[in-house]
Amino acid sequence: MIPLKEAIAVRHSKAEKMPFNQRMFKGELSASEYANYLKTQWDIFNTIESQFTLPHPGFERSQAIKSDLEELGIEPKQVMVADTYVAFLKRLSQEDANAHIYLNYLALLFGGQMMKTKVPGSGKMYAFEQVPELVASVRAIQKDSWAGQANLGLDFIIDIFRDLETLN
Ligand code: HEM
Repeated sequence: MIPLKEAIAVRHSKAEKMPFNQRMFKGELSASEYANYLKTQWDIFNTIESQFTLPHPGFERSQAIKSDLEELGIEPKQVMVADTYVAFLKRLSQEDANAHIYLNYLALLFGGQMMKTKVPGSGKMYAFEQVPELVASVRAIQKDSWAGQANLGLDFIIDIFRDLETLN
């Protein structure tokens, strides 16, 4: 079986190159655009954390995202595809959800660390303690067979970036 990182490489690259993500990476998002993005992150992370067990409690993001949104003080607009992803996540078993946990939490731990200084506000969502322990807790349970679910997750993320670009 293809190693997981390789199996998601095509869609990872597509997600990375989405115009909204590129603008976020260059520090070009307005506070209201970033608030819309944070709301999509809230939808995803809060669903995962309400419904499933994380490989390490240090991953929990709900409070940090809530606090980032409060700091911006802007009412976000809703991205419909994020609702579709949430509905999809809610129907998963813990094992299938683990692939989406891998996808979304490692995204914050890796790419996210470069994003932290580029976004409006203090970026608590990207602030993790015990990073090596967090990475190790995912690597300990990671399976190459998560590729299908992880790629489905990336398809949702790509659609979310597409919708975010057209919201404002
Ligand atoms: C500007 C956007 C992004 C950049 C610059 C970026 C960059 C990176 C880099 C450099 C790594 C490799 C880290 C390493 O191996 O040491 C990585 C890994 C990863 N990224 Fe991204 N990324 C971005 C967006 C995303 C998005 C949107 C997702 C999914 C929601 C994502 C999910 C992942 C995952 C799951 C890994 C871990 C792969 C593995 O080692 O198994 N990334 N990213």
